[in-house]
Amino acid sequence: MRHVRVSGILIGIVFLIASSPALRAQTAASDSQAHPWYQHAVFYEIYPRSFMDSNGDGIGDLKGITSQLDYLKTLGIDAIWIAPCFPSPQVDFGYDVSDYQNIDKMYGTLADFDKLQKLGQDHGIKIIFDFVVNHTSDQHPWFVDSRSSRTADKRDWYVWREGKGTNPPNNWLAVFGGSAWQWDEKTKQYYYHYFYPQQPDLNWRNPAVVRAMNGTTEWWYRRGVAGFRLDAVDSLFEDPNLQDDPVLPGQNAYGDPLVEHKYTQKLPEVHLALKGLRTVADQYNAVLIGETWTDNVAQLRTYYGSAHDELQMPMDLMLTKMKFSAPAFREHFKQVDSSGEWPVLVIGNHDILRSWNRYGDGQHNDQIAKDMAAMYLTLRGTPILYYGEEIGMQNNDPQRREDVKDPIGRLGWPKEKGRDGERTPMQWNDEPNAGFTTGIPWNAIPVTYKTYNVEDEAKDPNSILNWYKALLALRHTDPALLDGAYIPLNESDAEVLSYLRKASGYAVLVAINMSAVPRAVHFDLARQGIAATSAKTLLTTQSSLKEKASIAQISLEPYGVYIGAVK
Ligand code: NOJ
Ligand code: CA
Repeated sequence: MRHVRVSGILIGIVFLIASSPALRAQTAASDSQAHPWYQHAVFYEIYPRSFMDSNGDGIGDLKGITSQLDYLKTLGIDAIWIAPCFPSPQVDFGYDVSDYQNIDKMYGTLADFDKLQKLGQDHGIKIIFDFVVNHTSDQHPWFVDSRSSRTADKRDWYVWREGKGTNPPNNWLAVFGGSAWQWDEKTKQYYYHYFYPQQPDLNWRNPAVVRAMNGTTEWWYRRGVAGFRLDAVDSLFEDPNLQDDPVLPGQNAYGDPLVEHKYTQKLPEVHLALKGLRTVADQYNAVLIGETWTDNVAQLRTYYGSAHDELQMPMDLMLTKMKFSAPAFREHFKQVDSSGEWPVLVIGNHDILRSWNRYGDGQHNDQIAKDMAAMYLTLRGTPILYYGEEIGMQNNDPQRREDVKDPIGRLGWPKEKGRDGERTPMQWNDEPNAGFTTGIPWNAIPVTYKTYNVEDEAKDPNSILNWYKALLALRHTDPALLDGAYIPLNESDAEVLSYLRKASGYAVLVAINMSAVPRAVHFDLARQGIAATSAKTLLTTQSSLKEKASIAQISLEPYGVYIGAVK
């Protein structure tokens, strides 16, 4: 195996550009207590097609995002992760990149990016780009060259193999359906693609690929990007011996047998690649966020690197698979906390059913959305919001196959309806098209936008939006919420999730009733060194507790939340 290396010229370049304005944008490395900047920041994912359309073509764009920086600032956002906006044939809505160093015309220009970055800086909002590291588009010049002949300069930039007779090299399956091997008639070999055939996998065993990819991150850091969310990191490497993946009982939505991706996912070499990317990131004080789908906390921990030299922020996506349950969350956070790493809290993104639907019970979804916000915005760690979650945006899945835009929805219909439903335009107001566009929106907006929208919710003190704003304001200023230890309380309570965030001489008490019936909770905080008998209210969903609550007994309404300061 060839080893991953980082370009040796990087260090020299750092000196040359140390005084550039873009680099200066990121030099506030840490606060006075030496917390890296991302630990106290709140991140927000923007799906650029759907956030704000500035030119009436029905598709969101960079100018649209720039026009909403004030909104993001008021909400309490410090960094935005923008899903891919690079030139792309859009087979996978931008996750098929044909040029890593430009902006797709549909989203604007590099000058628009520069303006967004500059104004973002003025607002205290950093820009995180989405780096599709596993694969390119089949239209990327690298692949065009690679497929041109077996001796092409870039042939070895992708994974080409001989078939077995008339069959593909082995049984590996693409996660978007069918074999992971695509026959190429011209050069009479197969190329490997973990996703669509139009997304050929890069060969990360080739040092030239590693240099090109690391160099791409550097190019953007120098332009002012503050970090990357790394797409599909698990699948960077495959077994060079092409062993078959074990087949499991059952079928997926595409009719393929279920397999364990033993030889196509989470190979140890992934960590070498991440270390290389991190070496570059560190020179620019940039952050690397990982799309890290893991089965357990131990697995998640490996992505930080044994010497904390890989991802600073591997996402805890296990949270997105959990039921709304106090004991389940408690057990999970116990494990996360004992891992000792800095958690990255995520409850939604552009690939999964919206959190409002997923945790909701169909009757109390708004209250449950507030409970989830109270939980993940007061836990230790860095939260990443998904646009629209803060106003209770809901999935709007297509009803007919012919309306589906996401190819996996057409392929897997009706079991898999695709991801259009969680990617609908941001709901800004109750005007036509929710204020997102003056044209025809690219994706259908649910009728619920009439009540779930920024403008109306901003006026309603009890809205989900104002709850998010209050929580974010609190977590930005409260030392215990920023850095305090996580201490679970009442660990046998089946319905109420309670914990302390404890700083020195002070703590924040959080109690969330995760049930549809009233609950009284009793605390004994003497063991935690807290003598006070009452808590001073910081934030609550209950007017009865507006000023304070007795620690001996707090009566919580169904789905009620209490957050108070104790000494
Ligand atoms: C994960 C991205 O989040 C998803 O949207 C995309 O389809 C795949 N990776 C492939 O890039
Ligand atoms: Ca547009």
